[in-house]
Amino acid sequence: MIVKLNLKNIDKFVSEEEIQEVISSNRQLFQDSYECKLGPDDSKGWFKVDNYANDAMLKEILEVSKNVRKNAEVFVVIGIGGSNRSALAAIECFKHDHPDAPEIIWAGNNLSGTSLQRVFKRIGERSVYIDVIAKDFNTVEPGLTFRMFREYLKRRYGSAYNKRVIVTGSEGRGQLKEMSEKYGFTYLPFPEDVGGRFCVLTPVGLLPMSVAGIDIRKLVLSAKKTEAELKSLPIEENPAIRYAVARNLLFKKGFQIEGFVVIEPELEHFARWWLQEFGETEGKIQDAIFPTYFVYSEDLHSMGQYIQEGRRFVFETYLNCFKPTEIKILKSEEEDGFDYLNNRPYDDVNHAVYQAALNAHYEDGVPCIEFIAPAPDETLFGELYYFFLFAVYSSANLIGVNPFNQDGVENYKRNMYRILGK
Ligand code: PA5
Repeated sequence: MIVKLNLKNIDKFVSEEEIQEVISSNRQLFQDSYECKLGPDDSKGWFKVDNYANDAMLKEILEVSKNVRKNAEVFVVIGIGGSNRSALAAIECFKHDHPDAPEIIWAGNNLSGTSLQRVFKRIGERSVYIDVIAKDFNTVEPGLTFRMFREYLKRRYGSAYNKRVIVTGSEGRGQLKEMSEKYGFTYLPFPEDVGGRFCVLTPVGLLPMSVAGIDIRKLVLSAKKTEAELKSLPIEENPAIRYAVARNLLFKKGFQIEGFVVIEPELEHFARWWLQEFGETEGKIQDAIFPTYFVYSEDLHSMGQYIQEGRRFVFETYLNCFKPTEIKILKSEEEDGFDYLNNRPYDDVNHAVYQAALNAHYEDGVPCIEFIAPAPDETLFGELYYFFLFAVYSSANLIGVNPFNQDGVENYKRNMYRILGK
């Protein structure tokens, strides 16, 4: 694997012996994780990448994507939670590398009328295609946005509007597949046995990425390699298991909050994807880590203060991943106090602030896990996606929760239906 896990900066709090002890006393549980034996069988389709990112499926996705790329100036992705976050993470990281791609606009991820109005305004007169993604076509955010978009598309394109609609959804009564058959939309499957936040390597994540110009074959190949490697490593050397164990040992020692740190602003949405993976998968019992994320250096000027001197219940997980540039720091005639940086590579400063923050936090008693990665590309994203799916699955098994449900989310929905008189 190209990403390396560095646990050196948690050594004051958790030793390698403790990690090995937990691994050895949970050997069977981790062996079961390797074989995906834990958790309900109807949600395990993600475990083998080839189930839904095989040649036939990639071909189908690429055909749909080719047509959209040829005819659309704007591609609206309507979805929420697991239905949009994985694609959002990659697209926000790589969109500037593909100026030829249609602009990707995100909708159906809130219920703000203002936001919806702005989406229509931003599209303007440009040619638009939409992809509605919903596993369970009951969620109000994407459901209602889809309705508004159907009417909008009918006004603009008449009865041919359906040629511009792709639905990625489940089969069954009242689901998107049924709608696609009735109204002539293009259909891609949202696999029945893959839950929302586990569906990055299915048409859910891969179609929007492909429309945005991301090489999904390369990304999938890397995910498959990662899968093979993680499943063949001895348990005690497996970085996903070691990460799962280390973070839960830190929790037991009073570090209840995990802040995932990224240093490139374009990786913020990757951090948000990670956040959902761990928050929604594990947050079902009191003894679960509360995940959050920080984008440094900006957040060093807000939350950095708390991390440095506030309550010692936060540990950090740094993604050491930079986007390199050739920029040099320019000389200036005006005196501004920054001459000590003259002619240095601009990237040196970003590297310096990263290391400075990590060291300052560690020295003051904040455990710092680190993932050291090369510059982001499809290979890195393929690896990170599968790695963290495997890690969160193993971590959830370790703390004894079902990784695949999210029953708690239903409570607010029931209240909302009552308020709206459903
Ligand atoms: O991980 C999950 O399952 C959730 O975050 C769902 O993806 C989210 O609630 C959206 O669900 P749906 O696609 O059914 O509208």
